[in-house]
Amino acid sequence: MSTSVGFLSTIAPSACPLHDRRSGAAPCRRVIRPRVSCHSNGNAPQPPPSSLLMDRRDVLFALGGLTGGAAAAGKLALAAPVMPPDLTKCHDANSAGLGDHLKCCPPYTSAEITDYTFPDTPLRVRRAAQEVIKDSEYMEKYTTAVRLMKGKPPDHPWNFYQQALIHCAYCNEAYDQVGFLNPSVPIQVHFSWLFLPWHRYYLHFYERILGKLIDDDTFTLPFWNFDSDDGMTMPEIFTADTSSPLYNENRDTSHYSPAILDYKYSYGNTAGSGETGDALVLSNLCTMKKTFKQSLPLADLFMGDPLRAGQEADGSNGPGQLESIHNAVHMWVGTPESPHIDMGDFSTAGKDCIFFSLHANVDRLWHIYRNLRGNKLEFNDPDWLDSTFIFYDENEQVVRVKVRDCLNPNNLRYTYEEVPIPWMNKLNCVKTTETKEKTKAELSLVRVGAFGSEPRELSKTALRVMVSRPKKSRKKAEKEDKVEVLQIKDIAVDTDGPARFDVYIAAPYGDLAGPDYGDFAGTFVRLPHKGKGKKRKGALKLGITSLLEDLDAEDAEKLVVTLVPRIGEFTIGGVAIKLLQTDNPRLV
Ligand code: C2O
Repeated sequence: MSTSVGFLSTIAPSACPLHDRRSGAAPCRRVIRPRVSCHSNGNAPQPPPSSLLMDRRDVLFALGGLTGGAAAAGKLALAAPVMPPDLTKCHDANSAGLGDHLKCCPPYTSAEITDYTFPDTPLRVRRAAQEVIKDSEYMEKYTTAVRLMKGKPPDHPWNFYQQALIHCAYCNEAYDQVGFLNPSVPIQVHFSWLFLPWHRYYLHFYERILGKLIDDDTFTLPFWNFDSDDGMTMPEIFTADTSSPLYNENRDTSHYSPAILDYKYSYGNTAGSGETGDALVLSNLCTMKKTFKQSLPLADLFMGDPLRAGQEADGSNGPGQLESIHNAVHMWVGTPESPHIDMGDFSTAGKDCIFFSLHANVDRLWHIYRNLRGNKLEFNDPDWLDSTFIFYDENEQVVRVKVRDCLNPNNLRYTYEEVPIPWMNKLNCVKTTETKEKTKAELSLVRVGAFGSEPRELSKTALRVMVSRPKKSRKKAEKEDKVEVLQIKDIAVDTDGPARFDVYIAAPYGDLAGPDYGDFAGTFVRLPHKGKGKKRKGALKLGITSLLEDLDAEDAEKLVVTLVPRIGEFTIGGVAIKLLQTDNPRLV
């Protein structure tokens, strides 16, 4: 672990106040308390909501700054947050496995829309799924709430399946961006900086509706604590009782406990990290630790790249590494055969209660990330802060929510129970076995060329390329200023199916590469996704500053980058190493 990141000391200890213990009301729990910093900006004032009601084109043309070409290229000169959908224009959604005519539109397309206001309710404390199973009173409440949700009339917005359709609509292109209709640009809340905030709101309303159904304003969703040793199996609250309303039939039952989750899972024979048992748990913990360590200096690496109005996920932007790990968990739960329902396909994922616990933990990991960065605002950019979505709330109102209002969970009146975070401990992570002690003669070295200027195929065999670093032997101050980032661009997936490749880096021996791929740097994972029949492109950005320290490769001029295909066929547009300005120098 980087010495300057005091992982263990960063989450403030929170003893239970005495009066809580005496009251006998809500049970006393240790919660994650945000650290306050002068950079925190979770509650910045909002611009007037009226601007949201204008057609995007009107706004942009009124300001005189947008040409059609610029819009099409997604390069907008003006502030351009993604606008809320026009619900009245909702249309059929599509999915790679389930076809082009999915009915995912909400039943409230003509309702009046109001601006979201913060709730005035007790602070809800989300607890780990492996803990709540021991609390029969809680389990009774949770199952009752879900049963009531399933029993709502099919066209009621609170109905369980209507709630699942919200995810389908925002993820499977039922909405087009207002002002970008010809050619249409769909609203997509994955693959970018919208991922974490949108899902935070989705869970927020879902949780409050469940609470409303059982008349309990302290009700919380449990989080699937998959970043801890005792949380790395599928939570039994969702698997043990096939007659429970929390049960779902469409899963890979071979992954039920005691099977251990593998962050490197992909379908088929090439699946996974190749580890089992304790070694697999350790491998996952090391991946989580690495994900945090590599992405603390720059929020894009953890949260995903910017995505602005009129822009689609394309070959130059992509998801953060937290989203990639989360994709693998989706795959691991969903059915192993295509169409991989329910969890393995965005259009159906919300039909499995486990979805909300997976996402509660993803949300909690964001909360921890933010805490580790001293509560620093991830993107001080109005295009992120003013990105806006629409939900149906626990008061049966249709509300408009902005990213800026969800950044401090306390304002949404929930937090997480503090549980041990084992990946913050010192771990004995397996490093590359190749060492400098070996002489060249002992290794079978291979010649590895540069990527070249043409796109390259990646399907059955690993693609190894030699990549120059912009600068070697960087000093501490330089590292604090700029983070070294491996960029893989124009990643096109040749099928609509699931896709995954892993990225490794190693130091070369002169111009030659050793047989060992080196250290795992990160991954590209995609659930099946259709996207109007187009080839969906993406990009991958991985922070490697700390990895080079681990590899003892800071003095290397070039690196051997190895892309290991796991499932799917790709075309790769380019591989480069860049130095990007850090947004959090203190934490390099
Ligand atoms: Cu919107 Cu876990 O996905």
